[in-house]
Amino acid sequence: MKTINSLNVITFKHPQGCCGYLIADKTSKEALALDVHLDLVHDMAERVKTEGWKLRYVVDTHTHADHPSGSRDIASKFSCTRIAHEKAQHAGVTAHPKNGGKINLGSLEITFRHAPGHTPDHMVLIADGALFSGDSLFIGGVARTDFLGGDAGLLFDTIHSLLTDLPEDTVLFPGHDYQNKNESTLGKEKKENPWLQIRNRDEFIQKLTANPPPKPANMDLLLLLNREGVDIPPTLSADEASRFVSDGGASSVIDVRTGAEFEGEHIPGSRLIPLDQIELRADEVRAAAAPRLLLCRSGNRASMSKKTLEKLHVAGLSVIDGGIIAYEKSGGKTVKGRAIISLERQVRIVAGSMVLTGVLLGFFIHPAFLILSGFVGAGLIFAGITDWCGMGFLLMKMPWNQSSAAENAPSAGGTCAASLPPCAGTCAASLPPENKKTS
Ligand SMILES: [Fe+2]
Repeated sequence: MKTINSLNVITFKHPQGCCGYLIADKTSKEALALDVHLDLVHDMAERVKTEGWKLRYVVDTHTHADHPSGSRDIASKFSCTRIAHEKAQHAGVTAHPKNGGKINLGSLEITFRHAPGHTPDHMVLIADGALFSGDSLFIGGVARTDFLGGDAGLLFDTIHSLLTDLPEDTVLFPGHDYQNKNESTLGKEKKENPWLQIRNRDEFIQKLTANPPPKPANMDLLLLLNREGVDIPPTLSADEASRFVSDGGASSVIDVRTGAEFEGEHIPGSRLIPLDQIELRADEVRAAAAPRLLLCRSGNRASMSKKTLEKLHVAGLSVIDGGIIAYEKSGGKTVKGRAIISLERQVRIVAGSMVLTGVLLGFFIHPAFLILSGFVGAGLIFAGITDWCGMGFLLMKMPWNQSSAAENAPSAGGTCAASLPPCAGTCAASLPPENKKTS
């Protein structure tokens, strides 16, 4: 927690490079949640309770195109007023502050300022020595302006008016921190941010628009979720998944089968995270753009992965119904490698062999060997009731089920903060050309 004058601020970072904030008045403990990522709703809600704060408002600085907003969910937990700019048109938002509009947390005054550039509906929040800049000014960077009605010239005007109007010791809290720089002030940015060294508006526009990064994965769907408040469905039919992938969503498909099964056949661009590693590698799932589609052979292991991930509060998950078998039947494109025996078939072969061995040994050697058959039968009943198969987990770890594909899988959408190139997150512009070599 950072304290600035009468303000307490807690930053919540997401592996996609997004920053959400809890902002509270020290005295009254009235609080506001800003730019809540759907994956972080649980953590932020728990922290509000731990701190004993009264969450009154939930704000989105703009329409997010790179991640699902959790504003609706956290607002409903605490019966908060949702706030966004009037141009945002988000379902469920009831307060639309004008430029210069204010709200109070106890005696702390928070001012909203219209800050177009990244999007036309963008606002920043100014509060007692702090600037919550959303996607306008970042630490060492600025926002991109190449989609959703963005305007590089307006971004230049927005940023320079903030720099003119606010003191240099104003602490900067940006909407993204792709490079984990953690803290800065407006004075520091004035000196060190390469984009702020460009004083000519036309030159800024030319450089900002010259080399736009790829658009965020699943952008159209995310806009639908964030604007209209629809839910991500728990399952997706193979037909729907096939359309989702052909629309550019392959990097959001998480394949939870074994490495060998993946090598045998997989959806091009999907990422392999086997079921027995899903808990340890949950942050890799978080780093993939939502919705994340979980895939296995027939749907069973994907459902188990979903349960595990949801216990870890990963949101925005859908299971591809019928797995890769149904996906291929629906006409979805896959890449095939060497022929393999699926894990389900391996379980059947091993279980059947053990039962047969027990019966034969019991008949020809000693009846005590029948215990082996009984043990396997009991194990299969247990697996059927609990939907958890110990033999399957054991077989997953066998060397013939591993593959180098696990290491060589493509990255999940390039939105993981740790693996992003400098200043190339989904909402940040690249550095100006002459600064690239030194970044
Ligand atoms: Fe953004």
